[in-house]
Amino acid sequence: MRQKQSTKQTQPETNLPWEGNTTNLHRQETIAILLLGSGGRESAMAYNIAKSKRCARLYIAPGNAGTETYGINIPDLDPKDFPAIADFVLDQQIDLLVTGPEEPLVLGIADYFASRPDLAHVAVVGPGQDGARLEGSKDFSKAFMQRHDIPTARYQSFMAKEKDEACAFIESLCPPYVLKADGLAAGKGVEILETEQEAKDSLLAMLGGKFGVAGDTVLIEEFLSGIECSVFAATDGQDYCLLPVAKDYKRIGDGDTGPNTGGMGSVSPVYFADKAFMDKVEERIVRPTIHGLASEGISYKGFIFFGLMNVKGDPYVIEYNCRLGDPETESVLPRIKSDFVDLLLAIALGKVADYPMEIDERAVTSVMLVSGGYPGDYTKGITMDLPEPPEDIMLFHAGTRWADNHVVTNGGRVLAVSAYGKTVEEALGKSYEIAKQVLFEGKNYRHDIGRDLIE
Ligand code: AMP
Ligand code: GLY
Repeated sequence: MRQKQSTKQTQPETNLPWEGNTTNLHRQETIAILLLGSGGRESAMAYNIAKSKRCARLYIAPGNAGTETYGINIPDLDPKDFPAIADFVLDQQIDLLVTGPEEPLVLGIADYFASRPDLAHVAVVGPGQDGARLEGSKDFSKAFMQRHDIPTARYQSFMAKEKDEACAFIESLCPPYVLKADGLAAGKGVEILETEQEAKDSLLAMLGGKFGVAGDTVLIEEFLSGIECSVFAATDGQDYCLLPVAKDYKRIGDGDTGPNTGGMGSVSPVYFADKAFMDKVEERIVRPTIHGLASEGISYKGFIFFGLMNVKGDPYVIEYNCRLGDPETESVLPRIKSDFVDLLLAIALGKVADYPMEIDERAVTSVMLVSGGYPGDYTKGITMDLPEPPEDIMLFHAGTRWADNHVVTNGGRVLAVSAYGKTVEEALGKSYEIAKQVLFEGKNYRHDIGRDLIE
C-alpha cells in the first residue's frame, strides 16, 4: 500500500475514468478504505483492494488472521454497530466503506450513513435496506421477479394461518418439493423434500418457528432441474458491469452428498455460461432487475448476486443476494485485472458505465478447507501449519485468528486455497496440491470441486 498523498483543489486533472467530476473523492489519487467482514470473501476483497494503486490505507473489521496481510484488522469493531463504525470512519478519515456480508446491509448500514450529514463525504458500496430485501426477503424477491417478468420457479407464499391452503398447494405440485423460509436463516432456510408427507412436515416445522421469525412466511416452490451458476453484477443503480461467472459447491460431501454448507469451493469460468447463455442472462434477468429496481424507486449501489439455474440452456433465478458470494469471490476477484478500488468507487459514485472492466483469461479455482465435523459441531482454536505458496496461489483465510503467534482455526470454513491455471483442470491441480500442504487436525475438504466443469 502507498502512503496517502495530499489533495489540493488545484490538483491537475488525471486520467481516471471519472475525470471531470467535481467531488474531491474523484480527484484524490489514493483513499482510505474500511471493509466490513471476516470471511474468505472479505479476504479476497482485501487482496484486490490492497493491490490497487488507489489504496492508501485499508482497515478490515473485524478481519481474520489472513486479512492482516492486506491491511489493519479492527477486531473489536462489530459490522452491525453502526454508530461505532461511523465513529471509526470519522476518526480515521475513511473515504470508502465497503460491506462484505449481507447482515449489515439488510439491517440498513447504507441508510444509516445516508442519514448522517457528517458522513455525507463517505462513499458507500452496498444497497440500502430497500434494495437488500432482494436477499433479506424471499417473498419480496419472488414478487419482484413476477412484477418484472424475470424467469424464476413458480411459487406461492403462506403464513401460519394459511396451513391448509399451503398443504393443498403442495398436493398440486410434483415432487421434489422446495420450501424456503422468507427471511435470513444463515443459509439454512431452504429445504428440498422428496415426498409430499416430508414436505408437509417441514412446512409445519418452518411455520411453527424452526427458523424463528425468518419462517413466519414460507414459500413453496416448483423444483427446477438443471445446473447452477453464479453471476455477479456491479451496479450504481443505472448501469452495470458483469464480473466473471463462477460456480460454487454447496454440499459437504464428494458427489454433492450430505448437508449443505456455506460453500466448499468454487470455479471460474464456467464453460456453459457461454455468450449465447450470457446474452439471455443479461436480457432476461440482469437488465430487467436493474431497471426494475430503478422503476420502483430503489437506488441500488452495490453488487447483485444472481444465483441461476441453467435449465436446458435457459436461465432462471433461484435467488438474489445483495452482496458478493462466498466462496465464489475467492475465484472471481483474482480474475479481475482492472483496478478493484476504481470499481468500488464507480459503484458508489455512479460511474459504472465508464469502468474499464478487464478480465484475466486464466481460470481460478478455490478449494475450501473446513474443520472436522462441519457443518455440524466442530472445535475451534486448532493450530495450523501453513505453507508459503507460489505467487499464483492464494491462501484466503476464512475462519482463522492469531493466538500466541500461531494461526489457529476459528470457524467451520477455515481457509480457501485459490489458484490460477491456464485451464480449470490446471488450476485445480494447484489448489489441491497446496490444500494437502495446509495442516491442521481434523482438516476436511471436497475432492471433486470443479470436476463437472472439466470439458
Ligand atoms: P437458495 O438459498 O435460495 O439459494 O437455495 C439453496 C439451494 O437450494 C440452491 O443453491 C439450489 O441448489 C437449491 N434450490 C433452491 N430453489 C430451488 C428450486 N426452485 N429448484 C431446484 N433447486 C433449488
Ligand atoms: N455461495 C452462495 C452464497 O454466497 O450465498
